[in-house]
Amino acid sequence: MKKAFLILFVFTFCNQITFAQKETTIVTLKNDDKAPTINKNIYGHFAEHLGRCIYGGFFVGDTSKIPNTKGVRNDIIAALKELKIPNLRWPGGCFADTYHWKDGIGPQEQRPTIVNKWWGGTTEDNSFGTHDFLNMCELLETEPYLSGNVGSGTVQELADWVQYTNFSGKSPMSDLRKKNGRAEPWKVKFWGIGNEAWGCGGNMTAEYYAGEYRKFATFMSDWENTGGITRIASGSNSGDYNWTEVLMKNIPLNMLGGIGVHHYAVINWNKKGDGVDFTEEQYFKTMQSALKMEELVTKHGAIMDKYDPEKKVAMLVDEWGGWYEVEKGTNPGFLYQQNTMRDAVLAGATLNIFNNHADRVRMANLAQCVNVLQAVILTDKAKMITTPTYHVMKIYAVHQDAKLLPVSFQSPLYTVNGETLPAVSASASKDKNGAIHISLVNVDAKNKNKIEIDVKDLGVKNFTGTIITSAKLQDYNSFDTPNKIVPTAFKGFENKKGKLEITIPPFSVVVLEGK
Ligand code: AHR
Repeated sequence: MKKAFLILFVFTFCNQITFAQKETTIVTLKNDDKAPTINKNIYGHFAEHLGRCIYGGFFVGDTSKIPNTKGVRNDIIAALKELKIPNLRWPGGCFADTYHWKDGIGPQEQRPTIVNKWWGGTTEDNSFGTHDFLNMCELLETEPYLSGNVGSGTVQELADWVQYTNFSGKSPMSDLRKKNGRAEPWKVKFWGIGNEAWGCGGNMTAEYYAGEYRKFATFMSDWENTGGITRIASGSNSGDYNWTEVLMKNIPLNMLGGIGVHHYAVINWNKKGDGVDFTEEQYFKTMQSALKMEELVTKHGAIMDKYDPEKKVAMLVDEWGGWYEVEKGTNPGFLYQQNTMRDAVLAGATLNIFNNHADRVRMANLAQCVNVLQAVILTDKAKMITTPTYHVMKIYAVHQDAKLLPVSFQSPLYTVNGETLPAVSASASKDKNGAIHISLVNVDAKNKNKIEIDVKDLGVKNFTGTIITSAKLQDYNSFDTPNKIVPTAFKGFENKKGKLEITIPPFSVVVLEGK
């Protein structure tokens, strides 16, 4: 009896494996005129005064031996320009609600020092301030996104910052800007009104914050009435749908350019796990948390639709990414972590979610750009490396400002310990030259996946592919092996009379281009 049971079990188990290997996911792409354009700002980044993101990361000072332009590392500028970063959020994060911008302008020797209350208690000399950041954005050819201080700042202070950066006529703040060496305004478009107002930004209730928002937004005129500034509300903590509901209900829509959502992929806030040394179970839990993004943007979007059916107000996921324990031996307040193939899969799948929700999600900011959390760049003194996440952002840049091609498919399941996740993630777009780009992620850590896509009616014939993968899920780029994970040519597909038959290896990210 026992033997019969065993044979039956083995037979069933093998059958399932064979079935799983044979199963093909049919992905359908729709050429839909009404589909939205994928806003390039979905590929945005975030730079906070935190750990070694600004000081010792972007900014080394103009007396450094590391090649720099006005104190900003040239190698970082070049790497980010290659990514075509569309926008950069600064100065925080939690730091933003402690930051008084007037401390960071004028002659260096007169700038006061401050203590970074949230991140490691370090003392900063304010050598990187408004001019340094906005001039750096010009070098990067990227749009600045400034986060204003609501928690410990005043309405006047934020209104003055707008006047200082944006007003070209004569005024107290534009005169001060000119005195500090900048004649022309920078014309900053994106303005955050506080950050995480429910937490480090002041522990406010949604109702209280909505009132504060209205007050701050009223006085943040762009001073020339060109309609040039976008006011962005500090959004919900992950699945706090009440926050979105209250803000949408209480803030007049003409005062609200966008509303944020913050969501980090974390296994457990009390036990986040190592960034490199992790098990498949931990990988699964990270991906479970990351893929929750689909539910979050859908549900927050549905609430926004009730008040704003024309989708005039943007949703901004202005902090997202994987969050692990800090690298052993580093300052716990600096949030420095390595970046493996897990992060590449996380980035690819999350960006697919944003692309597919491009009708409402019009900006997203990966946290954070350099040396913090899911960074695209890591530095060690004069050395600089790019991470697997950098390479995902780079091969996905083709979607920036391209027209979404909505995808539909039934994903096979990736199962670990009886829990399941969709194994396949996909999005597609058509760029202004008519080229088609399809990005595919295999979330499954063990099994390859077969995918079939009918491309006959898309007006393109020749396909090429790029893949990001590695031997092990835990692989990463180190300062000794900086190019272990880089995009390579992907040959795992065939175009059979307009049907693409693709086999995508476990934990890999692929972009196909059709011309
Ligand atoms: O990105 C790190 C921190 O995470 C930010 O400062 C804060 O906004 C969030 O809680």
